[in-house]
Amino acid sequence: MKDVYCSYYTESEDITSYMVSKMGILENDFILEPSAGEGMFIDEILKRKIKVRIDALDINEAAILTMKKKYSDMSGVNVRLTDTLFDQILDNYANNEIWLKNTDILLDKQLDLFSSQDGHYDKVIGNPPYGAWQDIEKRELLKKKYVGQYVKETYTLFLLRSLSVLKNGGRLSFIVPDTFLFLNMHEKLRKILLTNTKIEEVLIFPSKFFPGVSFGYSNLSIITLEKCDRDEALENTVRIIKGFSSSAEFKDVLRDKFQKNNKIYKLKQLDIFTTEKSRFILADDKAATMIDASDKKLGDMASIVTGFYSGNNKKFICSKNEGVKNSKGYTVVDESKIVNTTSLIGVDGVDEAYVPYIKSSSATRYKRTEDQWFVRWDSKTVSFYNVNRKARFQNSQFYFKNGIAIPMVKSKEIRATLMRNRIFDQSIVGIFPNDEKDMYYILALMNSDVINRLIHIINPTANNSSNYVKQLPYKVPTSKDRKKIEKNVAEILSLDVIEDKDRIDELHKQNNELIENTYN
Ligand SMILES: C[S@@+](CC[C@H](N)C(=O)[O-])C[C@H]1O[C@@H](n2cnc3c(N)ncnc32)[C@H](O)[C@@H]1O
Repeated sequence: MKDVYCSYYTESEDITSYMVSKMGILENDFILEPSAGEGMFIDEILKRKIKVRIDALDINEAAILTMKKKYSDMSGVNVRLTDTLFDQILDNYANNEIWLKNTDILLDKQLDLFSSQDGHYDKVIGNPPYGAWQDIEKRELLKKKYVGQYVKETYTLFLLRSLSVLKNGGRLSFIVPDTFLFLNMHEKLRKILLTNTKIEEVLIFPSKFFPGVSFGYSNLSIITLEKCDRDEALENTVRIIKGFSSSAEFKDVLRDKFQKNNKIYKLKQLDIFTTEKSRFILADDKAATMIDASDKKLGDMASIVTGFYSGNNKKFICSKNEGVKNSKGYTVVDESKIVNTTSLIGVDGVDEAYVPYIKSSSATRYKRTEDQWFVRWDSKTVSFYNVNRKARFQNSQFYFKNGIAIPMVKSKEIRATLMRNRIFDQSIVGIFPNDEKDMYYILALMNSDVINRLIHIINPTANNSSNYVKQLPYKVPTSKDRKKIEKNVAEILSLDVIEDKDRIDELHKQNNELIENTYN
């Protein structure tokens, strides 16, 4: 069942059984299920026939009704209709200091109000809603309660809320997207986890293991942790396991039995904590050190920015012809209206004018086959972009400048292309070297396998957004290698991308090897 509450129930015994086992339930444990749905985890817990008490909370009346019926003769299961993030009973034993002491804005008054009781539950288990829709009013309330946190993502708030009511020594197991490990916006949450808990194990796996769910932007993960004090937390080593071919393998992990494809990383929490943005870097030691310790980052060498949005693409953007990929619904450009300009205020004295536009990924590396998209650029329309609330006339100092385009959405390999005198779309990350002399080397770099690998390590989710591209390590080759790379790039740019494909591939291969050596 799916709705505004993000009710994807955990209908996978492999998952519920692994998670309940990880919790290590003991007689008389007091357990919280903060987003209980129809009780998938509770059923698994009850199967174990251990005497426990369970608080099962959910915001959805239908789910509560189902559970009330199901557990009517079980005095140990207390089902309650509530919004877990604001529940007043939980407030009574919550210790929100966990995140307040980690925020920049320390609200002493708020701290005074907190109960001195540190935790209430022995165990928390859950599959909280991911990115559940919140109206603006609720978002404002969440911002006040979860100070300094990114409130648009509900699963992270459930994680914090649950931590605040967990006893010291209490254990939690959650199934959530793996984005909290990598994304910049979750840095504060990572710091809280790394200093208040021993993260025992994280399994990372494709979302399709979860029946009925499949989102492309990230993997799912199961995190199991124990609440503890700071010193203990930072001393702890996290075990992270990836490379599962099915959820049936989870039960083997419980017995420390691994498959050939499994990749296991052991990271000390103190090391993660002190890494830039406290990011989890899942790579062999060499790549991890390179990312963390490299003196120079690409962001030091170039401006790295996202491009323009018209506010209404189908209205203002045209394709070259009907054969252009994903051009359904777009008008084909009237070639007589294409103009040659680099004016940021648009073309005067004409009703309708268009300029070439870089949008979507390229089929080729180094340079694009042809201009496939055009954006309307007469002065009247450009003025409209500047005032329209939906349009984004952002980073305009880079429009029509020389730079390098890479697509925002990751594909198996990054195909970076040179752009000259072009406007670029918000789906493109534009790289504009501080010194134009670095253009050809950076163009080769962005097409290399090394950079492709590193960007996937820095942020394994589906996005190449500019903030991650900036963090790529920048290494300088020997001057001999650099000359060779630049010569190759110059030759590639002089060739025809279709007719001379073989020669381009050969030159690209040489560049790739030279860059591989540089980074090794
Ligand atoms: C992904 S489902 C998981 C349900 C159950 N834990 C399971 O694994 O089958 C998320 C549940 O969270 C509930 N939920 C969403 N927002 C909530 C909130 N603010 N407070 C309490 N429950 C909430 C939904 O109604 C839904 O039942």
